[in-house]
Amino acid sequence: MLFEGLELVSALATLAACLVSVTLLLAVSQQLWQLRWAATRDKSCKLPIPKGSMGFPLIGETGHWLLQVFSKIFSHEALESYLPKIQLVIQDTLRAWSSHPEAINVYQEAQKLTFRMAIRVLLGFSIPEEDLGHLFEVYQQFVENVFSLPVDLPFSGYRRGIQARQILQKGLEKAIREKLQCTQGKDYSDALDLLIESSKEHGKEMTMQELKDGTLELIFAAYATTASASTSLIMQLLKHPTVLEKLREELRAHGILHSGGCPCEGTLRLDTLSGLRYLDCVIKEVMRLFTPISGGYRTVLQTFELDGFQIPKGWSVMYSIRDTHDTAPVFKDVNVFDPDRFSQARSEDKDGRFHYLPFGGGVRTCLGKHLAKLFLKVLAVELASTSRFELATRTFPRITLVPVLHPVDGLSVKFFGLDSNQNKILPETEAMLSATV
Ligand code: HEM
Repeated sequence: MLFEGLELVSALATLAACLVSVTLLLAVSQQLWQLRWAATRDKSCKLPIPKGSMGFPLIGETGHWLLQVFSKIFSHEALESYLPKIQLVIQDTLRAWSSHPEAINVYQEAQKLTFRMAIRVLLGFSIPEEDLGHLFEVYQQFVENVFSLPVDLPFSGYRRGIQARQILQKGLEKAIREKLQCTQGKDYSDALDLLIESSKEHGKEMTMQELKDGTLELIFAAYATTASASTSLIMQLLKHPTVLEKLREELRAHGILHSGGCPCEGTLRLDTLSGLRYLDCVIKEVMRLFTPISGGYRTVLQTFELDGFQIPKGWSVMYSIRDTHDTAPVFKDVNVFDPDRFSQARSEDKDGRFHYLPFGGGVRTCLGKHLAKLFLKVLAVELASTSRFELATRTFPRITLVPVLHPVDGLSVKFFGLDSNQNKILPETEAMLSATV
């Protein structure tokens, strides 16, 4: 009896010790988080921080006025001036993919492509190719550790993330300084030029720290999301040869796809692209079924009721883009890839504002959505008009959703250069495409 009593006391003591340790651990990690949070934000920046923006400690927060400046970066005129550069970057990349003797890992290559687009087109940095490759590796290390626990210990993901951010910021500072000194020979204003100019207009000359934070946030926002969507686009064009053929017909009808392919560099215009209705439907459908980001966070500003549950003011809530697309009653056969659902005749997305929201919704909706759609459209046009590509594995890979949606093996595809078959769907490709995910 005494023995059992002692056992009980010892068990209770162990439990109490465990509870104390867990509480201490939680308290310490909360302190660490707050310390890190404070340490990683620029203290000189007294901007009001709106609720619900990209709150990652390794990146920083976007101030209100900076958001206004960002909206200028993605205006119609700005997009028109980026378009030829985007087309050139994509054409160069597709040429490199086609000349590669082996199949390529599409997701990995798409990440490099969007990184290059962000650095060369959006920020206008003329970094030598070798340095760009190095910067990309560091950037990957940074992104891989963005979601790590904020515990700054040697070899921890957080420490690796901070180290990568320091290297990146050094590289960005060098590129920004070179750019500020060399303003000649530019035929367009890139996003960084606009950022600097418009901040002056708002009476706020940006500090070097703000410029580095702003550029890092732009790259971060553009990189993984657009790479995910590009990979999904390529996968769906492979899976649905009839969609690819219909796209080619539309390009032919608009004089964009000529019999000998379209080697014309930098010739696309925004109004030409907006006239391509089917292309728009294809991109919309890719973004509906394969939305890169699962959802977003918001802070409840006013207590409200939802389905009989009270959600108190001050709570953090998450809205799910993926579940919304999956359950929205407006979409027929939700799991079927069917670009025509967005055609003028059907317009399944016309009812209700919040059934289709791949770029989020409300005041914190994605600022780069027009740029992202433009990029995807140019990629689709170039793929349809100049490339023949085949799946290099027997079946299509599974899809994973974390950190953004992508195929588990990255999607192995062999690209071929221009040839006489480019406008036809090859019989053997058809056979391969019947393989299921
Ligand atoms: C297919 C590509 C993209 C997708 C799916 C996407 C999606 C999203 C989503 C869902 C949000 C969060 C909205 C919310 O909190 O409710 C967001 C925010 C944002 N995106 Fe994108 N995005 C893409 C590409 C881009 C690009 C290319 C840029 C710019 C270069 C960009 C810039 C931003 C910025 C600055 C925000 C923060 C807006 C704010 O906090 O107010 N995005 N994006």
